[in-house]
Amino acid sequence: MPPTIAALAADPSPLTRTVTARGIPFLVRALLPEDRAALTGFLTGLSATSRRYWHGDTDPADAAADWIDAIGRYDKLRLVAHCPDQLTETTAHPPDRPADLAGVIDLSFCLPDGYEITRYAGYGITLDPARTVRFGPCVADRWQGHGLAAALLPAAYAAARLLGCDRAVLFGGVQATNHRARRFYQRHGFTEAGTFTDEHGDGVDMLLDLP
Ligand SMILES: CC(C)(COP(=O)(O)OP(=O)(O)OC[C@H]1O[C@@H](n2cnc3c(N)ncnc32)[C@H](O)[C@@H]1OP(=O)(O)O)[C@@H](O)C(=O)NCCC(=O)NCCS
Repeated sequence: MPPTIAALAADPSPLTRTVTARGIPFLVRALLPEDRAALTGFLTGLSATSRRYWHGDTDPADAAADWIDAIGRYDKLRLVAHCPDQLTETTAHPPDRPADLAGVIDLSFCLPDGYEITRYAGYGITLDPARTVRFGPCVADRWQGHGLAAALLPAAYAAARLLGCDRAVLFGGVQATNHRARRFYQRHGFTEAGTFTDEHGDGVDMLLDLP
């Protein structure tokens, strides 16, 4: 049986690893309760463009509080990547010296009706809720273009596989105007399943059977 999200919140060590992008090592681990300030800082520091493409207009402090509150409780698992100068940090962070985050990956292990599962059904693709993870990465602007998102993919896939999934779909799809992300996903094997329009505009659904 795969571990539960609650079990991984109690012992997140299976999710911890070091990845390298452009020769720079980054620590990747699960989001922890003590990351609230770091997460608020990460969200606050995103450019308007990055925010538009990832979580939109949510208030950074409110979103960070919600995401911390959700650890181990619902369908979400969030991975964070530390900036390299904090590589020696492993799990806990003293409140006066929070982690500085270079990237965050949303993983969701449920497929609520009306969203991805419904859109994919419209494309003729049946998603298995037990084996499909919803996936959404964001890299801090100053680290974009260094290959960090690419380096984070194996960590995200390993977390998905740990929880019994073998297929990834983009969480909320990707906005049609987000050409950089679309190129990124294509380069890493995601294929377009279909297109849709929602309150954010035109979107593209992409999926990957995990390597
Ligand atoms: C999409 C996103 C996650 C990609 O992250 P990233 O870390 O910049 O991705 P990578 O660096 O692996 O690849 C992106 C670019 O950097 C280039 N790159 C990758 N490795 C590189 C390296 N070692 N040296 C120089 N450039 C490199 C890639 O060729 C790619 O170029 P392109 O934009 O011309 O296609 C990031 O741009 C982001 O967070 N955007 C805002 C939020 C968002 O859109 N999220 C997705 C929502 S669906």
